[in-house]
Amino acid sequence: MADWTAAEKSTIAGVWGKVNVNEIGPQALGRVLIVYPWTQRYFGSFGDLSNAAAILGNGKVAAHGKVVLNALDKGVKNMDNVKGTYAALSKLHCVSLKVDPDNFRLLADCLTIVIATKFGAAFTPEIQATWQKFLSVVVVALGSQYF
Ligand code: HEM
Repeated sequence: MADWTAAEKSTIAGVWGKVNVNEIGPQALGRVLIVYPWTQRYFGSFGDLSNAAAILGNGKVAAHGKVVLNALDKGVKNMDNVKGTYAALSKLHCVSLKVDPDNFRLLADCLTIVIATKFGAAFTPEIQATWQKFLSVVVVALGSQYF
């Protein structure tokens, strides 16, 4: 699906090694729900999502953000088989959850913004390019069972 150089693998491992899933996960999912409010429709059981403060203080959003980032950990650890790693998760989002696959890209973009904000100057354009290549592969993999 994608060929990775040793340098790219090392860059992804380096970024991921500095990501605190418990902090970045809630922020990334919260940001998606705030910036793209139509995504809230998938989380009807999560309670109060009525404004930014409610979303960022919502325990269910925080918990699910951690679940999503822990799932991303599997992709980081299986970079040579990202598609296979997410086949079942793709099917789940398509068949059971009925999530529009366009939303995966939105989450990936919000995650990159949260990471860039956190890392500051250390998140150079070169590192960003490799990181976004990785997330693009994850996004394609999560959409792979839709067709
Ligand atoms: C990188 C992208 C994503 C990853 C890795 C991911 C991962 C996961 C995982 C691991 C679960 C739990 C599955 C289970 O219970 O077996 C889940 C559930 C779910 N995901 Fe995703 N997801 C992603 C993006 C999204 C997006 C963008 C949306 C909607 C905008 C979404 C909506 C949901 C919903 C509604 C659930 C069920 C939540 C619940 O009621 O507990 N996901 N996702």
